[in-house]
Amino acid sequence: QNARIKIDVDRTVGNVHEHLYGNFVEHLGRCVYGGIYDPGNPLSDENGFRTDVMEAVVDLNPTIVRYPGGNFVSNYHWKDGVGPVDDRPDRMELAWNRLESNHFGTNEFMDYVKEIGTEPYFSVNMGTGTIEEAQQWVEYTNVKEGPYYAELRKQHGYPEPHNIKYWSLGNEMDGFWQMGHLNAEDYAKKAREAAKLMQLTDPSIKLIAAGASNFRPDANPMEWNRVVLEELKDVVDYLALHMYVGNPNDNYYNFMATPLVLEQRTHLVKGLIDEMMSRADRGERDPIYIAWDEYNIWYRWRSEETMTGTRALEEKYNLEDALVISGFLNALVRNADVVKMANMAQLVNVIAPIFAEEDGIFRQTIYYPLQLFAQNMHGGESLDVYVDSDTYDTERFFLGLGESQAQLQDVPYLDVSAMYKENGEVYIAVVNRHLEDALATDLICQTGNFTGEFEVYEVNGPDIKAGNDFSGEQVRTVKKENLAVGDGERVTYSFPAHSFTLLKG
Ligand code: AHR
Repeated sequence: QNARIKIDVDRTVGNVHEHLYGNFVEHLGRCVYGGIYDPGNPLSDENGFRTDVMEAVVDLNPTIVRYPGGNFVSNYHWKDGVGPVDDRPDRMELAWNRLESNHFGTNEFMDYVKEIGTEPYFSVNMGTGTIEEAQQWVEYTNVKEGPYYAELRKQHGYPEPHNIKYWSLGNEMDGFWQMGHLNAEDYAKKAREAAKLMQLTDPSIKLIAAGASNFRPDANPMEWNRVVLEELKDVVDYLALHMYVGNPNDNYYNFMATPLVLEQRTHLVKGLIDEMMSRADRGERDPIYIAWDEYNIWYRWRSEETMTGTRALEEKYNLEDALVISGFLNALVRNADVVKMANMAQLVNVIAPIFAEEDGIFRQTIYYPLQLFAQNMHGGESLDVYVDSDTYDTERFFLGLGESQAQLQDVPYLDVSAMYKENGEVYIAVVNRHLEDALATDLICQTGNFTGEFEVYEVNGPDIKAGNDFSGEQVRTVKKENLAVGDGERVTYSFPAHSFTLLKG
């Protein structure tokens, strides 16, 4: 019997925000220096931006880019990175053990986001930084003229404010590894006061609180989220969550199920937010949303040596990783009512979809599903899709290094999200997790008929371990023959083994 996917355009979940397809640029390894920024390289432009990297970034269509960290930000003092480059101090970078030249800072990043046409999202230092420093950063970037830091920006050659709208109140402050780590109560109080000063400086900004990132067995992530939300429920706009997964024991089916854990965590936090919103005093503001502002696969470059220095976290990806990313993206779309932002960590070289050496780049496997989603899957209503396919149970397994364990039952081989646009277009994104079998599937339209044809885009490769490198790309998007549906309520399509497919029509 065929698998079934039922599409009912009346059963909507929420609007799919374009910010689900963001990325992240941290001063870590070769993400900034030797990644997006490489002055003196023949491939760089007059600003020092690598043009080949930039072309791949623009094609990826990152809709919002977070900066400058990550763990880096918790000992970053933004004033080090503005003004004449020769006057900027070299600093010990303690999170990832590098020398930070500060040649790239606020204004260089803003030049970059303007070139690539994306939304900037800044993170302030809630570790070793002060609430005053956070306020002054907003003044420097967002106040047109008058006060000292606004005038300083003008002196630095930027007469107009940058108007940075999205600001997070620190990074992973629940993590014992974070510089200046605080307990939940202390973090929440500091973040509330920072929020107050930042909002007084520019009332139009949106604030993101640092939710739980520590899911180690001995941590209590939901308690952290509860305390932070309780204290900040009236003032912040998002709660940030982070998740990295891996396949350290080389178990394909366990690994394929990891996006469902992101979904479980989303549901848990959504419940908490709902409860908080019932008691919040937010005036006209939207409810608090979830920002999964770091997610990815990261387990290979995770030893002491591979996590430090100039070549840190240079994970190379394969097809199974691309399928897990597709699963993450499906989970984000399925929860589009509450998830309004997500950022793949990171953008270039460091656990990233784009990999650069001095003389060229290649696109990693995970680039392709993200690109398909970023180019297509937003601006419509996420649909509550009915999926009927065979299922499997996982073993009990570690989600990734340093992560908690999971065990999941009834994991469907087909993982699906769908979106409907007002112009009548339907988008159906399908991961076939089955390792060997193509799955013949009836796509059933429950409200009216499908008409015309679906464009079909597929990400696949010769086998699940196939990857990309400078010699070529074994895993990428291939446009297949269109799927004609005529004018009917049902069409059958066979999703190939270990594949991701986007149907658009
Ligand atoms: O993205 C790499 C690191 O992962 C970030 O700096 C940190 O926030 C997380 O632990």
